[in-house]
Amino acid sequence: MGLSRRDFLKGLAVGGTTGYLTMAGVSSTVMKDVFLPAEAVGDFDIGECKSVTCKVISETSWFSNKVLVGDMQKAGGLLVNQYIIPWTNEGVKEGFNGDNRGGYSTLVDVELLDGTHKKILLDCGWNTKWMDECFAREGIDDMLKKKEIDMLYISHEHFDHYWGVESVLKHYPDIPVLIPKGFYKEGLDLLKGASFPTAKLKNDYPHTGKLEVRESGKVHPLFPGAASISFDSAIICRVTGEQGLVFNVKDKGLVAVTGCCHMGIISFLQEIKRRVKGGDKIFGVQGGLHISPFEDWDPQYDDLILALPEYGVEIIGCNHCTGYLTAEKMLKAGLPVVKGTARFKSKKPLFLGNGDVLKFC
Ligand SMILES: [Fe+2]
Ligand SMILES: [Fe+2]
Repeated sequence: MGLSRRDFLKGLAVGGTTGYLTMAGVSSTVMKDVFLPAEAVGDFDIGECKSVTCKVISETSWFSNKVLVGDMQKAGGLLVNQYIIPWTNEGVKEGFNGDNRGGYSTLVDVELLDGTHKKILLDCGWNTKWMDECFAREGIDDMLKKKEIDMLYISHEHFDHYWGVESVLKHYPDIPVLIPKGFYKEGLDLLKGASFPTAKLKNDYPHTGKLEVRESGKVHPLFPGAASISFDSAIICRVTGEQGLVFNVKDKGLVAVTGCCHMGIISFLQEIKRRVKGGDKIFGVQGGLHISPFEDWDPQYDDLILALPEYGVEIIGCNHCTGYLTAEKMLKAGLPVVKGTARFKSKKPLFLGNGDVLKFC
């Protein structure tokens, strides 16, 4: 891409980050990258797996950007506690039965070297009616009932990634749950069966299984070839902390799998590189890259796009808060973005949509 690391950092460092950009985690990308050593490559051995298959259960977190942003603005802005916002659940033309609430959830199926499989449900969406439909469509409900899914891995506490937890727990109340450090009392109470009428949120199926809270600053191994890394990111709607997954596919390299990636995709890749053995070759990326979720653009986003190939990225399976504008620009810049099929209310085929599958092997 012809962009030196120094130029990239310089580009980020001089970029102004105010208001939304600051809270969205873009500034954390800037700061972390400025202070991280450029040449370090990690030595933490996470083992190897044979393949990683990501099935997009739902990447449509909401159906109208305008309605969602309006909800936040009416409640007082981007810093307001998400549990006291009266989110719109009726009268939205492009919504799901008029409801603006959708959700984000991906099934990550990892084939181990011995041929056995481990399944991670990455996030559980928002609107339980929408999630019930998505889970039924992809057979997730049956997998949960049969306890074929090994863990519910919550990337972060945001409404669109976590509030659909009832749709999981009704089938498998003792599923092991992994969260990053930073959940607020409301989030922990929701897991135990609390309801939040203003936010139109409830969980009637208290979690009875193991809850693991993952701290930042180290690599948490999950099983051979799989690990988790947490970040103390401050995020809009009063959310703190996000975690992402990293896999090591034999003979290929590392794969980074994210929910929203509010820590910043470059911060995430840089942290993997810095801590995980083989981090000099991150051949695949999957999930929300959080660049233009509301389809706005800032010149510094161009730097993010240009930096991805520097990590060895050969496959980009992005969606959700990546933004269609970002996908368009990445494709124009020649980046290997995997296209989708725009089914089940995913709007455009520019990136992986609902029901689409990407296998890293
Ligand atoms: Fe999100
Ligand atoms: Fe988020």
